[in-house]
Amino acid sequence: MIKPPTDISSMSCSTFSTAPFLITKPRRANDMFRCRILTKFVTANRLRLPQRPLGTATSVYPPNKTARQTLIHSGSNNARAGILCHQLPRHLVAKRHLSGREPIAGMKTADVQNYHLDKGGRVLAVEWNDGTESRFHSLWLRYNCQCDRCRQHASNQRVVDVTAIPDTLTIQDVNVTEGGDVFVTCTEEDHTIELDTTFLKSHCYSRKSRDAKRKAMAPTYRLSGEVQTLSYEEMDSSEQGFYKWLKAINEDGMCLLKGVPTELGYLKKVVERIGPVQATMYGEIFDVVETPEPTNAAYSNVSLAFHMDQQVYEAAPGLQFLHCIRFDDSVTGGETTFVDMFHTAEEFRRKYPDEFRSLTRLPCTFDRIHFSRDNPVYKRNRKPHFVLNDSDDIVAVNWHPGMEGPLSIPEEDVDSYYHAYQIFAKMVNNSPTYKQIRFRPGDLITFNNRRMAHGRNAFKQSAGGVRHLQGAYVDIDSFKSKTQVLSLAVGDGGLVKRVGSHCWD
Ligand SMILES: [Fe+2]
Ligand SMILES: [Zn+2]
Repeated sequence: MIKPPTDISSMSCSTFSTAPFLITKPRRANDMFRCRILTKFVTANRLRLPQRPLGTATSVYPPNKTARQTLIHSGSNNARAGILCHQLPRHLVAKRHLSGREPIAGMKTADVQNYHLDKGGRVLAVEWNDGTESRFHSLWLRYNCQCDRCRQHASNQRVVDVTAIPDTLTIQDVNVTEGGDVFVTCTEEDHTIELDTTFLKSHCYSRKSRDAKRKAMAPTYRLSGEVQTLSYEEMDSSEQGFYKWLKAINEDGMCLLKGVPTELGYLKKVVERIGPVQATMYGEIFDVVETPEPTNAAYSNVSLAFHMDQQVYEAAPGLQFLHCIRFDDSVTGGETTFVDMFHTAEEFRRKYPDEFRSLTRLPCTFDRIHFSRDNPVYKRNRKPHFVLNDSDDIVAVNWHPGMEGPLSIPEEDVDSYYHAYQIFAKMVNNSPTYKQIRFRPGDLITFNNRRMAHGRNAFKQSAGGVRHLQGAYVDIDSFKSKTQVLSLAVGDGGLVKRVGSHCWD
């Protein structure tokens, strides 16, 4: 016999700190409403639920209307013992914010096989149905609660008062719904932690998971002399084209666009697709052209050794753009050269581990002290050539011999610094990642200034020939963010590879 459903809408909710039952609107047109009920509410009202304390729910109204009446049942279509929620108050209709599509490195699904408490309730151990395991500390779960009180969903920012969280949290109860919601209560607090399995899986911090992420973010190298090339039209015509360009820069450190209009200043429009132009002491858009009184060696015709621009800044430029406006056939030389410093640094570490260590420990002095210019500058930044994270991955390379000031390190380290420096400088000049391009008007090379070093062959302008490039930068965070967003939106959802931004990932 089918038991009539119990109406819970009139039952008291006042003793609960969060809504005891929440209706989640369907995400897609044909999905069902889902209703979650706190175990404590079920117990307090002596409700008898068919099988699970937290059931799935089907709406008796079309999914595009607010749920006014929801039948909760055991998950099958047999409504033999259900609960009826009549006219739920508006504030109980959860406006649950999606935790955001997160890239999951090396993980296929987020379905829970089993879970149990460990360390006396200080750890929740989850077995996933792909055979992997995760362990979450009670405090980790609490600090990452996604409920309305701990997270402002409009801004997707944490608003929890971190000082109010007891540091001795012991997990009391865990419920995982069929829909993937996870509810955790702790003995020390009257607060239900709300999470979901996708969030947990994508943020799992097991060694295996962190290693999978590191592997996914590790750079790959193109050793041939070829540079990935894309037409400006293809890049500019769709989000897919735009992503193709950013992905190439992320994978190879650089990409060449062909057919960009040679209008002066057009570059700004291209750069701003990624983010605001990163201005430096040379302005926003700078002209790389031979001038009689250059404020930078680049504005003359001399050869330029491999370097990464503007190391004197705490945040050196991220991507660099060089747009060829004019490069006459009568100009001899002037080719632009590139070397992948991630690869060179890895080779250096492999062949000369002690010397490599020295250059992670001893700071180089980068400086730009120049008074004979309109706006005098006095910039100094001491930092090591290589920066490592907690797993010894290279997360930043700093190299610009032309913008170095006097070394200032302990006396006993000076010889070993210069010894290591010499070896590395020679390896840069002889890197198998070397590439050389002679630009044509309409070419726009974009390269990651945190990864690629660039140089230039000396040139000679004769018979009225001109070499004129326009340059600009965008910060590395804008590039990294835009690439990751597009990877999730129109790409394969993979993680962006390390960009040299000092990020420990
Ligand atoms: Fe440069
Ligand atoms: Zn919360």
